Amino acid sequence: MRRRAILVAGGSVAGAVLLSRGAAATTTEPATSTAAHKHAHGPAGATPRKASPLSVAPFQTRMPVPPVAAPIRQTAEYDEYEVVVRPAQLELVPGLTTEALTFSGGWVGPTIRGCTGRPVKVTYRNQLDTHTNVHLHGGHVKAIDDGHPMDMILPGATRTYYYPNNQRGATLWYHDHVHGDEAEHTYRGLHGFYLIDDPAEKDLGLPTGSYEVPIMLTDVELDADGSLIWGFPTDRNNVVVNGKVKPFFPVAARKYRFRILNATNEGTYTLSLDKGQMWQIGSDGGLLPAPVARTSVTLSSGERADLVIDFTGLPIGTSVVLSDADKGPVLRFDVGFTATDRSKLPLRLRPLPALPAATKQREVHLRFDFSSEEPRPVINDQQFDPNRVDFTIKRGTTEIWTVYNDDVEAGIAHNFHLHLTQFRVLSRTGTPMTPDDAGLKDTVRVPAGTSVRLQATFTDYVGRYVYHCHFLEHSSIGMMAQMEIVP
Ligand code: C2O
Ligand code: CU
Ligand code: CU
Repeated sequence: MRRRAILVAGGSVAGAVLLSRGAAATTTEPATSTAAHKHAHGPAGATPRKASPLSVAPFQTRMPVPPVAAPIRQTAEYDEYEVVVRPAQLELVPGLTTEALTFSGGWVGPTIRGCTGRPVKVTYRNQLDTHTNVHLHGGHVKAIDDGHPMDMILPGATRTYYYPNNQRGATLWYHDHVHGDEAEHTYRGLHGFYLIDDPAEKDLGLPTGSYEVPIMLTDVELDADGSLIWGFPTDRNNVVVNGKVKPFFPVAARKYRFRILNATNEGTYTLSLDKGQMWQIGSDGGLLPAPVARTSVTLSSGERADLVIDFTGLPIGTSVVLSDADKGPVLRFDVGFTATDRSKLPLRLRPLPALPAATKQREVHLRFDFSSEEPRPVINDQQFDPNRVDFTIKRGTTEIWTVYNDDVEAGIAHNFHLHLTQFRVLSRTGTPMTPDDAGLKDTVRVPAGTSVRLQATFTDYVGRYVYHCHFLEHSSIGMMAQMEIVP
């Protein structure tokens, strides 16, 4: 039997619990400090692996901007793109080679830029020796185009997904979603940005072009030779920013728009700047009604924050450091030149769509079931079963879901992601609402012992879609469930 171990810890605040398949023991430890995380854990009987084989000094290399994909075909009806899913040798750390699984050769796949009202097709060629599939996270798409965990692209096969882009401008992303393997595949590099530009937002005058930069944060554990360590996620302290560990990025003394994505498998960043000002202008599903001044932004796995950072007035030579509360500095902006700035940060951005009246209430309980020898991740007491429909929802209706994290004793953080549609956060218990909950969301934090109430409207499409904890080590072993939208 293959020994399989997972860490069920929600970022930095939760206690760390190591679960292992085939080993009776569960190790718990109160991880109240970073130091606690630095200790190697091992299942009973196993030799604990050395902690932190490679710890990379920050700011050695420049942050790349992921390439924007060029269409291979443009017709009257759609733009088509092609992406090759293949292994690649990357240089996450200067001088070391990291073997990764990639979309077209990059740690961050090519950025696909769609436009509201104009459909996109993306053809994926699977050149891996294993199955893959691609989910458009945040996309409002037909069930056959959603990258359902059981709907795979076999090795050597090609698959075209159709994305209608009948939704607002937003920062979406795409990643592997093969059931059971999505955690490993995504960890090893299968992620990229999908941005939707919206003609309705054009006149706002937000920063564009080279002043609009998507930034993907993931954390990995690297061996001394640069290879990715997969399996015991106890010390993923190397934060990879657009494919480089803790890089720097030269900027002009002007406004920038940064679309920040936490694509990390399992963890939460709380990001702040050591100087200068940041405004949040959007969240998962698009723009907020107005910019919100933030001193820090908290993002759990899968969440996005659309930020404007203003470097105007900072002297050339100034460095501005973006740090995570737990992992320390992750990115340094170096103000290196001046540039004219005709962009705006308007007082008003875009009103949110009205909330239709809800006609149904449901409860979703997330937890690990510790009653058996091997802890099982469950939603409403059941592990994911692709042959079971957990919720049947009438198309066009609006529902309120209360999502509970019942792992009070174990202190395990979870989060919650819904496919097909964005929702609004109505309220929380056990932890206050913050601007991190504002706007159209598709992924939210659910700290241990708390709950969050969401309101979602299920329009347009019928069929089976999943919802799950987006800590992929949890969803990949069953903290996932299925809804069926019916006519
Ligand atoms: Cu980002 Cu179901 O996933
Ligand atoms: Cu998704
Ligand atoms: Cu979880």
